[in-house]
Amino acid sequence: MKRSALSFLAFLVALLTAAQTLVVSDETRRIREDFQDRKFGIFLHWGIYSMLADGEWVMHNRRIDRDEYAKLAGGFCPSWFSAREWVQLFKEAGAQYVTFTSRHHDGFSMWDTKASPYNIVEATPYGRDVLKSLSEACHEQGIKLHLYYSHMDWQRLDYPTGSCRNCPHDPATTNWDSYYAFMNMQLTELLTNYGPIGAIWFDGMWDHKEKEFDWRLDEQYALIKRLQPKCLIGNNHHGAPIGQEDFQLFEQDLPGQNTAGFNAEEEISQLPLETCMTMNNTWGYSITDKAYKSGDELIRRLVTAAGMNANFLLNIGPRPDGQLPDEAVERLRHIGAFMDKNSSTICGTRGGCVPPQEWGVTTQKGKTLFIHILNKEKDGKVVNEGLKRINGGPLSFFLPLRRHSLSKVTLRGDGSPLPFQREGDGYRIFLPKRPDTVDCILTATIGTP
Ligand code: GLC
Repeated sequence: MKRSALSFLAFLVALLTAAQTLVVSDETRRIREDFQDRKFGIFLHWGIYSMLADGEWVMHNRRIDRDEYAKLAGGFCPSWFSAREWVQLFKEAGAQYVTFTSRHHDGFSMWDTKASPYNIVEATPYGRDVLKSLSEACHEQGIKLHLYYSHMDWQRLDYPTGSCRNCPHDPATTNWDSYYAFMNMQLTELLTNYGPIGAIWFDGMWDHKEKEFDWRLDEQYALIKRLQPKCLIGNNHHGAPIGQEDFQLFEQDLPGQNTAGFNAEEEISQLPLETCMTMNNTWGYSITDKAYKSGDELIRRLVTAAGMNANFLLNIGPRPDGQLPDEAVERLRHIGAFMDKNSSTICGTRGGCVPPQEWGVTTQKGKTLFIHILNKEKDGKVVNEGLKRINGGPLSFFLPLRRHSLSKVTLRGDGSPLPFQREGDGYRIFLPKRPDTVDCILTATIGTP
């Protein structure tokens, strides 16, 4: 009897503890929503690896000795770097936040850290804290700053190397406690000296595939929330969020897709979603990778992400001289011209009540549904296989609105009303002519029947 009362008590305590971690304050909910509203961010992969112009994995991929690699720092001098110009360009592109690689897997810190001399201020002739300039420019221009931080480290000898084959691994120097203390000291600096940080974006945890490896995330996450309660936490562990994580990340794919192979079993969480994607094929600067997606293709991906209720974090790998690659600048301007007119159909919206269709996607703000007819270009012609001409009639598409009614549809731009009619469990909407832009946007007013 006594024993069962005790186990019932233990059960109650466990239940209460679990409930406590699940309870989300109104403030947290508001911050997550603000993050979702921002929709479009710029990812920056910048470090001493940029000098070798072969992506951020170059140290690992070319099996570069750690001491030899470290000598790169002595030549890092991004003399043309202007945080103000970068941020202004991102803003003009319609981006609302920047995620900066504070320390990537190569272990080099891009700020004035006291936790290791292997940093931009102490180890380079440049000698300036680029993160300070970036944070000031972001705060001045009203753009949120998020920080990428790698859990894995190819340089430090105390890091307990996991599955990485080309990494220094010496059991004699491995010391998890010292490495963990180092990371937490760095995170404390990042969250103390650079004003409000929108999110910490972790990466590299997958270096340890073994289940029993304990990253002590709960304690680390609690530290972050203690230092900056408004700072969100995301972790690129290629799975649904765990513990105190606030949003789910998808690498190189939109939620539910798996073309890059990172998102094999990723279930889609109810928390905010963010897809990160390269403009070409490489995160860090690559002098040979010219496989840039076109400006229109990037617009399509951004809009599709929004239609799938996800933020779009578009990557740029700045050059070692501190300038952004010309191709990236060109694309940012292209996206900017689109966002200038249409950002209100993306930022501040959620994925619409109509899931993605063959013709495009929908985003929604209350009773306003933005219908994005996403077109492709083939042999100089605009094509969209989801648009049909029925019995030689006008071009049209089917909007499966199900339980919602439709009271009005207009063409964004000139505001002209479009005819529509009920069909099955939705509506058929007729277009005056074949759309000739990448995203032809219609604004619909919907209600419940
Ligand atoms: C992967 C790569 C890393 C890159 C990240 C961005 O995890 O290891 O280099 O920073 O993806 O999503």
